[in-house]
Amino acid sequence: MTKKIAPYNKAEPSSIQTLFNAIARRYDTTNLVISFGLSKSWNRKLCRYALTGAPKNFCMLDLCSGTGEVAFECLKKSAANAKAYLLDFSLQMLKIAEDKAQKLALTKQEIHYIEADAEQIPLANASIDFTTIAYGIRNIRQPVHCFKEVMRVLKPGGKLAILELTRPNNCLLKFGHKVYLSAGLPLIGKLLTSDKQAYEYLCQSIDHFIAPEEVKKLLTQEGFAKIEVISLAGGIATILLAHKK
Ligand SMILES: C[S@@+](CC[C@H](N)C(=O)[O-])C[C@H]1O[C@@H](n2cnc3c(N)ncnc32)[C@H](O)[C@@H]1O
Repeated sequence: MTKKIAPYNKAEPSSIQTLFNAIARRYDTTNLVISFGLSKSWNRKLCRYALTGAPKNFCMLDLCSGTGEVAFECLKKSAANAKAYLLDFSLQMLKIAEDKAQKLALTKQEIHYIEADAEQIPLANASIDFTTIAYGIRNIRQPVHCFKEVMRVLKPGGKLAILELTRPNNCLLKFGHKVYLSAGLPLIGKLLTSDKQAYEYLCQSIDHFIAPEEVKKLLTQEGFAKIEVISLAGGIATILLAHKK
């Protein structure tokens, strides 16, 4: 009997790239619907944490930037000469980000779009004030490689702010969350994007990713300091903050 191979698998990053290129056009709408609008407020919270202590004319890097939701939220609160690098390996996501920046009239700030892998960041050492990664780290094949790269590009005192979908601890919430991930989310994903398998992968990636405390351990091993773990909505999402000494 031949084994059925899942089309999307993070051990094969090109399949994840294909996935995001395929769902890019409807990504923002679908994300808003499947998170019941919570993603917007979580993104704003992430930006508030990332911006605390950063200079007004910051230079930021948004890894796995997708359509630029997080980077643009930060830029809205910046000085005119702030700079943002949006890095993603999905060209379709970056194209949507570029259109969005024009619609938002973010013309005074410097915005660069980089099509690259978050495990190999094509930026200079100690050039970035803070890095954000929203809903991206669980898709990266080797998160440690990405953390090493973030450590390299951050300026001393710089910050890494991660937002990720996680699993709640409360039994009742855990049960509801599991049902939603296994049945509700793939169905909504299929209705909105006609790609049920893509949303099945996204659910599995939440279910299989290491817990926030394990991410904290990896960050500590990579030399990050003052690490904070902030649970959102009973643990359905988590923000991690980590600093370069
Ligand atoms: C779930 S989306 C999140 C997008 C965005 N950060 C947001 O807040 O909506 C994940 C993004 O990560 C990108 N991605 C996944 N793995 C990547 C990698 N190894 N290198 C660069 N981008 C990656 C995907 O192309 C996709 O755009």
